[in-house]
Amino acid sequence: MKKGMAVLLCALLVATLAGCGRPLTGTEPPKTIKIGISVYDQYDTFVSLLNERFDQFKREKEQQTGVTITVLREGAGGSQVTQNNQVEAFIRDGCDIICVNLVDRTDAAMVIEKAEAANIPVVFFNRELVEEDLERWNKLYYVGAYALESGKIQGEIVADRCRQNMAEVDINGDGILQYVMLEGEAGHQDAVVRTEYSVSTLIAEGYAVERLEDEIANWSRAQAETKMAQWLATHGGAIEVVFANNDDMALGAIDALKKANVERWPLVVGIDGTPVGMQAVREGTMTGTALNDANGQAQALMELAFSLAMGQPLPAEFTLQEGKYIRFPYKTVTAETLNLYEDFYK
Ligand code: GAL
Repeated sequence: MKKGMAVLLCALLVATLAGCGRPLTGTEPPKTIKIGISVYDQYDTFVSLLNERFDQFKREKEQQTGVTITVLREGAGGSQVTQNNQVEAFIRDGCDIICVNLVDRTDAAMVIEKAEAANIPVVFFNRELVEEDLERWNKLYYVGAYALESGKIQGEIVADRCRQNMAEVDINGDGILQYVMLEGEAGHQDAVVRTEYSVSTLIAEGYAVERLEDEIANWSRAQAETKMAQWLATHGGAIEVVFANNDDMALGAIDALKKANVERWPLVVGIDGTPVGMQAVREGTMTGTALNDANGQAQALMELAFSLAMGQPLPAEFTLQEGKYIRFPYKTVTAETLNLYEDFYK
């Protein structure tokens, strides 16, 4: 009789646990997973593109696997405090994985502490946190790109054009390239590195440069247009090269150039290869851009989140470097290479 009761109790316990959503380890993988995503600013063009691409890869994954992937997505409006609260809410809401596009790359402590206490892995993306923070726990990851390459590509695009026709680039014919720099954001890894390497690459290629202006325009087309309009008023046609840390700011500079009706158009180089950025390259208003692989990054983010939540290995085409990083190379987009990327976002 006692034995019968024990068997019944065991059966009840197993049935209750099985009904609790997440199966016991060693049993079937889950049928639904929940991913919380917080982005630093929902209106940022490149980050929005990453979100769009993520959703597309997520839909494809659901179709392939039959697993329902619920995404809770929040924009932090540029506030780290808001983002920390969003991460807490994701934990309360039972997210299996949290993806964070940090507001402040130097201030990841709160996010990490909360996630670690709840044992929920975090995949950071696009805004690279400081390395020591990523080392704090073995369930922290980063998906992004090699910032250095994007700056180099900008320098090379300009150097190539100089090699082709220096007289066309060097408007005043003094043998020095007068440039202005539109920087993304104070302290942002991409902004700092891109600013440095665009110019140092051009110098390493053997060109003399003179910086006319260098200001932060927060990745924003409107802010860049305002800055560029001021610089055009100050320097007139003396600007020969416009380096912008991203396409949106390059497009802002182009907006100002169009309104100012300049006689000779400077070289304008961006980064990201957004659809609008590539359109400007097609039209010839932007000299070139460094394609920031939104497809690769979004897919890696989705695949990493999925495999962590499912307890499965990452598909072979994605490799975790040092057990933590997945990064994608930038690609050069100019009028000559544009045709390779016509279907990039399709
Ligand atoms: C950069 C991107 C910028 C902006 C920034 C936000 O990688 O080039 O356009 O989106 O990230 O962190």
